[in-house]
Amino acid sequence: MKEQLKDLVNKLQMELKNCEKEAEVLNVKSKYLGKKSELNNYLSSIKDMTPEEKKINGPLLNQIKKELEKLVDEKLEVINNQEILDFDDTLPVEVEIGSLHPITIVAKEVTDILKRMGFTVVSGPEMESDYYNFEALNVPKDHPARDMQDTYYLDNGMVLRTQTSDNQIHAMENYGAPLRICAPGRTFRNEDLDANHENTFFQIEGMVIDKGVSIENLLYVMKNVLSELFKKEVSVRLRPGYFPFTEPSYEIDMSCLICGGTGCPTCKHSGYIEMVGSGMVHPNVLKAGGIDPEEYTGFAFGIGLTRLTMMKYKINDIRVLNSGDIRYLKQFNID
Ligand code: DAH
Repeated sequence: MKEQLKDLVNKLQMELKNCEKEAEVLNVKSKYLGKKSELNNYLSSIKDMTPEEKKINGPLLNQIKKELEKLVDEKLEVINNQEILDFDDTLPVEVEIGSLHPITIVAKEVTDILKRMGFTVVSGPEMESDYYNFEALNVPKDHPARDMQDTYYLDNGMVLRTQTSDNQIHAMENYGAPLRICAPGRTFRNEDLDANHENTFFQIEGMVIDKGVSIENLLYVMKNVLSELFKKEVSVRLRPGYFPFTEPSYEIDMSCLICGGTGCPTCKHSGYIEMVGSGMVHPNVLKAGGIDPEEYTGFAFGIGLTRLTMMKYKINDIRVLNSGDIRYLKQFNID
C-alpha cells in the first residue's frame, strides 16, 4: 500500500503542475482528497484491518493525506498571488463618486481662510442648555432679545441652539485668554419657510480675545474672509446693529452677487445682503467665560453660512439646500 500511496502523491503533483486556475486545483483536490478518492477508500478500509495493519497503515495514511493537502494549498497560494499580480489596474472602473454638500464646501473654505489667520476650529452641541445659548451671552430670561430668535424648546429643558454663539462661552471656558476660534455649525429657529428662510440653517462663529483688540481687527478679518472666498474685492457695508452679547454691535452687509447689486428678491431689492452679525464682546460675556474685561478685549462675529453659500453659488432658493435633491446638490465642487 505504501507504494500505491507514494504513487498518489506523484500523480497529484503532476496534475497540479498543469493547473492554471483555482477551479482546476479544486477539481484535482476533490479527485485526490474528496469522498470518492482513492485515499478515502484506503481510509475507510482501516476499520477492517488487523490491529497490526492498523498500527502501520493508520499513521501512514494520515501522513499522505497531510502531504496531499499541503501540495494543494501551496498551489492555491501560488495561483492567488499570481491573480493579484495579473490584475490590470489600467482597466476603466465605473465608480459613482459622491460629492460634498455646498454648505460643507463653503464651511471648509471659510475655516481654511480663518485657519491661515491663526484661528482654531472648534465645535459645540446642537442641543444646548439655556445657559450657553442665552444666559451666558447676556440674554437673561424674559429679556426682549429672546424674541429675536424663535426658539425650539425641548421637553428635557434644553433648546435646539438658535445660534453658534454658544461656542463663545464653551471656548472661553475651555481655553481662556488669549483666544482665536471659529466654529461652523447648524442652528435652528422656528421660522416660516420661504425662499429666504429655513428653520435649519448654518452659521460660522468667530471670536478673538487678546490685549488691545479693536474693531479695526474685526473689519480686517471680515474683508479678508469675503474677498478670499469670492476671489475678488467684495464691497461691504457696516451698519450699527444690536446684539446683547456685543457692545457696540454691527451688521455687516455684502453687495448681492445674485443681481450684482441692482436689486432682486433675494436681497429684497436693496442690492445688499446681511451676512455677518458682529461687535466687540460685551464685558458680561467675558466675565461669564471667566475672563477679566479689565485686562482683555475681544471681538466676535457670526457669519450666515447658509446665505454665504447661496451667494457663492448663486442659489436663489434656500430650500434646495435642505432638500436632499442629489441631482441638484452634486453639481458643486471644491475649486
Ligand atoms: N448670533 C447672532 C445671530 O445669530 C449673530 C452674531 C452677532 C454673532 C454678533 C456674533 C456677534 O458673534 O458678535 O443673529
